[in-house]
Amino acid sequence: MTQLIDPFGRKIEYLRLSITDRCDFRCVYCMSEDMTFLPRAQILTLEEIFTLAKVFSELGVNKIRITGGEPLVRNGALQLIEKLGQLPGLNELVMTTNGSQLDKFAEPLMAAGVKRLNISLDTLNAEKFRTITRNGDLKTVIKGIDAAKKAGFQRLKINAVILKDQNHNEIIDLVQFAIDQGIDISFIEEMPLGVVSDHDRSGAYYSSDLIRQDIEQQFTLLPSTEKTGGPSNYFQVQGAKTRVGFISPHSHNFCSTCNRVRLTVEGRLLLCLGNEHSVDLKQVLRANPGNEEIIKQSIINSMQIKPEKHEFVLSEQPVILRHMNVTGG
Ligand code: GTP
Ligand code: 5AD
Ligand code: SF4
Repeated sequence: MTQLIDPFGRKIEYLRLSITDRCDFRCVYCMSEDMTFLPRAQILTLEEIFTLAKVFSELGVNKIRITGGEPLVRNGALQLIEKLGQLPGLNELVMTTNGSQLDKFAEPLMAAGVKRLNISLDTLNAEKFRTITRNGDLKTVIKGIDAAKKAGFQRLKINAVILKDQNHNEIIDLVQFAIDQGIDISFIEEMPLGVVSDHDRSGAYYSSDLIRQDIEQQFTLLPSTEKTGGPSNYFQVQGAKTRVGFISPHSHNFCSTCNRVRLTVEGRLLLCLGNEHSVDLKQVLRANPGNEEIIKQSIINSMQIKPEKHEFVLSEQPVILRHMNVTGG
């Protein structure tokens, strides 16, 4: 099978597939308050998304993570995921979700072959939750986590973006919550994607080292060699099942082990989250109906422009103007 290998010798085996830029939340670090979303004519159909995912799987991609916006707000998401679940060659079909619809979708997702879920949760305080998501309801997400636990996924992980003076005082509570639920948790340093209106990103920076120091006031973290194919660096909480991960785009760059690319719902293949290098696969797909060889060749060629690393500078205006909901992280 052809392998996707970039000029830095990195093997690309992981596709992050954004199936909508829409979301029922408006998290302050992800979006500005007044967002406009893509019109329908501009986005890939579910059939087109499936075709592209299939081609990637034939090129050696063995892990697909469904992302958004919030993937479950797209009509027909489940039917697409059921089809993806049957692709030979995929070892891992996983999803990142805000949890708002899991009460309804956890079981069917599990039945469709989704192995693991990452669920965003930054606070356990209902009022704070509404402030951070601008309109989300904490209870619905907690219900969603319960439903996901019942459905029996191989692994569940909470993602918490930590912002200084907003939720950094909840780090210990979030770890305790993960322990009580018997699930994992990753703490994420905020990345400067798109202009956001509510806070100053450099003032809100709270490093993974600080988060770790806070956690170690209460728990013992044992180093772990555990890897999930993503950027988290994991530790085991002594005496508990829970693993604590740190995603540290600023303080501990992880680009040298990058194994992934992203497909936006506009059909743009982004070679790096922190750069604009991309290939318009929608154009290739629509100009060559039924010709999957041409798509394959475009994807193989795209490896030549995969950047070495992201360069995020918090103190300046963001260089990358697309918001996080366009790529799902
Ligand atoms: P697994 O390891 O498969 O569990 O997934 P993950 O934790 O990598 O994925 P998830 O979708 O939960 O993303 C968690 C955070 O990691 C998000 O904030 C992403 O933006 C960030 N992230 C994932 N991949 C990259 C990457 O290549 N570069 C950067 N800078 N951030 C990334
Ligand atoms: N920086 C870091 N993480 C972000 N996420 C959304 N926006 C940002 C940002 N600007 C997180 C979400 C979700 C994951 C896909 O990315 O909380 O857990
Ligand atoms: Fe929606 Fe996720 Fe962005 Fe929050 S971080 S607004 S839940 S896409």
